[in-house]
Amino acid sequence: MTKEGLIAATMREEDSDEEGIRPEKLADFIGQEQLREALSIAMAAAKKRGIPLDHTLFSGPPGLGKTTLAHIISREMGAAIHCTSGPVLEKAGDLAAILTLVHEGDVLFIDEIHRLPTVVEEILYPAMEDFRIDVMIGEGPSARSIKIDIAPFTLIGATTRVGLLGSPFRDRFGMIYRLNPYTGGELARIVRRSARILALPITEKGSLEIAQRSRGTPRIANRLLRRVGDYALVRGDGKIDEDLADQALTMLGVDRTGLDEVDRRILRVIIEDFGGGPVGVKTIAISIGEDVRTIEEVYEPYLIQAGFVKRTPQGREATPAARSHIHHKWW
Ligand SMILES: Nc1ncnc2c1ncn2[C@@H]1O[C@H](COP(=O)(O)OP(=O)(O)OP(=O)(O)O)[C@@H](O)[C@H]1O
Ligand SMILES: [Mg+2]
Repeated sequence: MTKEGLIAATMREEDSDEEGIRPEKLADFIGQEQLREALSIAMAAAKKRGIPLDHTLFSGPPGLGKTTLAHIISREMGAAIHCTSGPVLEKAGDLAAILTLVHEGDVLFIDEIHRLPTVVEEILYPAMEDFRIDVMIGEGPSARSIKIDIAPFTLIGATTRVGLLGSPFRDRFGMIYRLNPYTGGELARIVRRSARILALPITEKGSLEIAQRSRGTPRIANRLLRRVGDYALVRGDGKIDEDLADQALTMLGVDRTGLDEVDRRILRVIIEDFGGGPVGVKTIAISIGEDVRTIEEVYEPYLIQAGFVKRTPQGREATPAARSHIHHKWW
């Protein structure tokens, strides 16, 4: 992995090396207090009534725990989970095939649900409302539609772009939860929990140092923890404290606010090449050689949240905070 793309690579990769770290019970899921309480009540009520949990939609930036929550729900409900994603389901038949295999109470998890083709979305409507699908048999004038009953199930959707879901679709979910960026304290707890599982010795301040540079995102916190752990093993005695975490992260190009090389290039383009903006996101993308979607979905949300970039109808603008961050040039 290059120094440049640390954040983007982290946000693109699947969490294959997260076995053991990913919380399996709601009690181990740190932060998002309101969501957790509402969800635990809804699950307890569904269990008492002996019915599947209402269809649930999780929205929020990448790496905040949407997939994790889907797995936690299936586990806590004692249900099987079938996982698929919006772009994979190309034809109505793809989804119909899965739905006919679902047993009562099972969870159907659709990741990137905003990328579901319209024809597939339309199959989902009666499935969600009446546990029934309408399938077309045959072609041309002899084609007819037959109704097939399916088992009552729970649909869990995850999306990074809830705005792209039409309201008829959104309205069919009984619960819609938005995941928010985590606080430094919450991320530090996540780092300490992961460190315990990975048997990496870490001090409280060491965990806070990693947390502060993790952009409010558990996935990034876990990735940085592993890299800092490597550094501690090779350059130190294996123990992670504040100083060591700082050295390791600085070496990785992750600065004190969690910006990496690409973030700083974005800011420099806006400030130095376009006089602080406004400048269109496409122009920024071409200037730094990244694609527009990566900038919009991975980099920009944090730059906006951290107060470095403003979105205006004319394009992106750098804030005074961004100027002083870039001119500081401590790295
Ligand atoms: N609240 C949490 N407590 C502890 N660990 C967490 C929490 N949320 C997420 N994680 C960790 O972060 C990793 C990333 O979370 P997850 O894969 O669920 O994110 P996501 O929202 O589905 O992201 P994407 O939009 O990219 O699919 C998980 O594997 C898990 O280890
Ligand atoms: Mg996910």
